[in-house]
Amino acid sequence: MTQHKFLLDESRLPKAWYNINADMPVPPAPVLHPGTKEPVTPDFLAVLFPMALIMQQVSPERWIEIPEPVRDVYRLWRPTPLHRAVRLERALDTPAHVYYKYEGVSPVGSHKPNTAVAQAFYNKQEGVKALTTETGAGQWGSALAMACNIFGIDLEVFMVKVSYEQKPYRRIIMENYGATVYASPTVRTQYGRRVRAEDPESNGSLGIAISEAVETAATSGGRKKYSLGSVLGFVLMHQSVIGLEALEQLVLAGEYPDIVIGCAGGGSNFGGFAYPFLHKNLTEGKKTTIVAVEPASCPSLTKGKYTFDYGDTAAMAPIVKMHTLGHTFMPPGIHAGGLRYHGASPLVSQLVAAGQIEARAYPQKPCFEAAVTFARTEALVPAPEASHAIRAAVDEALRAKEEGKQRTILFGLSGHGQLDMAAYDAYLSGHLEDFEYPEEKIRESLKRLPKVAF
Ligand SMILES: Cc1ncc(COP(=O)(O)O)c(C=O)c1O
Repeated sequence: MTQHKFLLDESRLPKAWYNINADMPVPPAPVLHPGTKEPVTPDFLAVLFPMALIMQQVSPERWIEIPEPVRDVYRLWRPTPLHRAVRLERALDTPAHVYYKYEGVSPVGSHKPNTAVAQAFYNKQEGVKALTTETGAGQWGSALAMACNIFGIDLEVFMVKVSYEQKPYRRIIMENYGATVYASPTVRTQYGRRVRAEDPESNGSLGIAISEAVETAATSGGRKKYSLGSVLGFVLMHQSVIGLEALEQLVLAGEYPDIVIGCAGGGSNFGGFAYPFLHKNLTEGKKTTIVAVEPASCPSLTKGKYTFDYGDTAAMAPIVKMHTLGHTFMPPGIHAGGLRYHGASPLVSQLVAAGQIEARAYPQKPCFEAAVTFARTEALVPAPEASHAIRAAVDEALRAKEEGKQRTILFGLSGHGQLDMAAYDAYLSGHLEDFEYPEEKIRESLKRLPKVAF
């Protein structure tokens, strides 16, 4: 009988996060101040983040101990299961073995609490009483709301307007945990007011929401700090529990992956899932293909420029070297709201540029098609973001069939889609649109990159 699930006991919960800084083939590019365009000092970052997280961002240590109070919260749902997609394999009639690591078992249904809990803990430890953040699909906001509630911290969430309207239930989840949620752009910040004056119909974007959350923290006179759910090195590091557990679970399955696939918005589930495998490539000579999948309508890794750009739309956040579509690029309102970001994680970008990671892009329709195939075989309705990873995994399984080769395919199922029914409704009723690659808009936006000396 084929084993379907590979489960780890709570005692196997990782004790340390994996920090890829230690194994980067070349040192990371500096992070620049948005005003002076010189490398930032810890003082500048300290307005937004607690010192413990700033130190993690620049730490060269390969392993960073997970504090016991964080592990204690992780135990609510971790270790998460590794599944073999036996029914999907059968339906595709593929010789490939397809595995997925499922993060949808967290209390809010995605991987996001892995860093939310850590960030809330370090803020609490440094006496912070209130946090601000942005959220796209609402997954990150729900995760941080849960974590802030556990550690007794107030939270304000700037939620991208298109998701706020498409996903009212996520707002209610956040409010249930005691958070305050606004549809961004708001009239509460100077930047939000400016965006609304220029475009009263603005759908919002992650970049705009980040600007509003950063502005709110930066102008709070030190009372509030800011929390980010993706992009930064420490966020990806906190997510490494996903890949570390998956490595152990594959030992139980007696396999090692030929290919590891994850969807990438800012890159946190992808990095956290794939880096422990990349570590084996970089240090043990393993040859696993590592693939990041993004939407074709917001194709930063596949079509963006690898250069310095602002992390947010208002040019208030630090300037980092990453694959970017330009900080003023406004992605179309696709249903995978969590993948609508103009940039990417600088570390993921650097590894794509170095050829260690392959990037692919898919329009949303074929992703939903794969998600529905997955739901009808494995019975689980995936998050629209995760459907991008499923599409690539299905394509790989079909390629294995065509070539008559057994391959071991591992993908990250970053969350469930039970609150994304408007998106599935649009797909099933034939109303889901694919957007053209917005070449002209990207070209325009790339004209506004900051001029830096690095
Ligand atoms: C389920 C899910 N997967 C993926 C993402 C994309 O974010 P990241 O690239 O940081 O993993 C999101 C973002 O909200 C999400 O909710």
